[in-house]
Amino acid sequence: MQDTPQVQAYRASLLHFHADPAQTEEAAAYHADGLLLVADGKVVAAGDFAALAPTLAPGTVVHNYQGKLITPGFIDTHVHYPQTDMIASPAPGLLPWLDTYTFPTERRFADPVHARTVAEAFLDELLRNGTTTAMVYCTVHPESVDAFFAAAAARNLRMVAGKVLMDRHSPDFLRDTAEQGARESEALIQRWHKQGRALYAITPRFAPTSTPEQLALAGELARAYPDTFLQTHVSENQDECAWVRQLYPQASSYLDVYDRVGMLRPRAMYGHCIWLSEDDRARMAASGAAAAVCPTSNLFLGSGLFDFARADASGMRLSLATDVGGGTSFSMLQTMNEAYKVARLGGSYLPALRMFYLATLGAARAMQLEGTIGSFAAGAEADFIVLDPRATPLLARRTAHSASLEELLFALALLGDDRCVAATYVAGRPA
Ligand code: GUN
Ligand code: ZN
Repeated sequence: MQDTPQVQAYRASLLHFHADPAQTEEAAAYHADGLLLVADGKVVAAGDFAALAPTLAPGTVVHNYQGKLITPGFIDTHVHYPQTDMIASPAPGLLPWLDTYTFPTERRFADPVHARTVAEAFLDELLRNGTTTAMVYCTVHPESVDAFFAAAAARNLRMVAGKVLMDRHSPDFLRDTAEQGARESEALIQRWHKQGRALYAITPRFAPTSTPEQLALAGELARAYPDTFLQTHVSENQDECAWVRQLYPQASSYLDVYDRVGMLRPRAMYGHCIWLSEDDRARMAASGAAAAVCPTSNLFLGSGLFDFARADASGMRLSLATDVGGGTSFSMLQTMNEAYKVARLGGSYLPALRMFYLATLGAARAMQLEGTIGSFAAGAEADFIVLDPRATPLLARRTAHSASLEELLFALALLGDDRCVAATYVAGRPA
């Protein structure tokens, strides 16, 4: 290996994945005494300290994080930045929560100064929690997208985001029209998609707030710009599902509303996916679309329990997400904690290794970004976090005698949160 002095070296326990732990026992790469080498914002190598240390050029600084665990930065595949300040707002279910809190809160994002202020706070909160990439809903206002991507660019973050499309069943101050929404989305794609680390997501909010015309135009845009992302909500809540059946009587299911207009495709991320049929799951798997599983939100709003066993049996792609402000924490560790319990209530079992996979490489795969983010493969972008297994007195007591990597990760997931994130690195630089 050609080492040059600009290589940065980090000594710690290292964990990343090559594959899904649900599919193979050799999915994880774990180095108890590891070394991560980074240059020019990219991973050069990750391996055992004993093997890599002799390859370092004389004078290379080794940052010592011994006793801590370095993993790829977490990826949150479904989150609403405008809802940052309304997290933990009480309401009896999704639809009243949207009317009472969400829509009035999102109204303020017509103001670019307000949007930028909240975007900055949101991104800082993600980084504090060790999340380095997210798929983000903005509001109906194009200004909210400009503000978000500008704040993300200032932090050099790999972020996916888009303008919400909504042309009915919402207050007039939050409505676009089918034509206007498509035109604004296309202009935003041209302005932001693949500029630096920014990636654009076509973002119809959900079927009830879009006319069939608007969804058809979203599908057309998704075909015209096949390397953009797409994101929406599906089958989150039973009242919502009943509403969709009324609004789209010709569709065979809620997911079919989207499938008919060409919205099921790779790089399409579907939030929630709780009340899917077997046929829906098979369509998700066949199309290359992926599910964003949002346990803290689903428990908080009483939406339902994601069925991990049926999802896995179908082969559909999965990822974990906070769904803040419906979600109650920015922490992907707390998201794992609740995902684990949701799986248990459904009779299945989610090992901690699988949850760490889903929050890193699994999400990158769901987003078709494997090799770019989510692992320490050589050449991947060096977004990584330093987790402290002794961050709290209780964690220190519990992890002092963890008998396996699985036990250590499980304690981090069940007991950990932002306090465990000792450092977050973005493209090789401390955030
Ligand atoms: N469905 C439509 N809009 C939203 C939203 O903002 N949050 C959640 N959780 N579900 C939605
Ligand atoms: Zn959501």
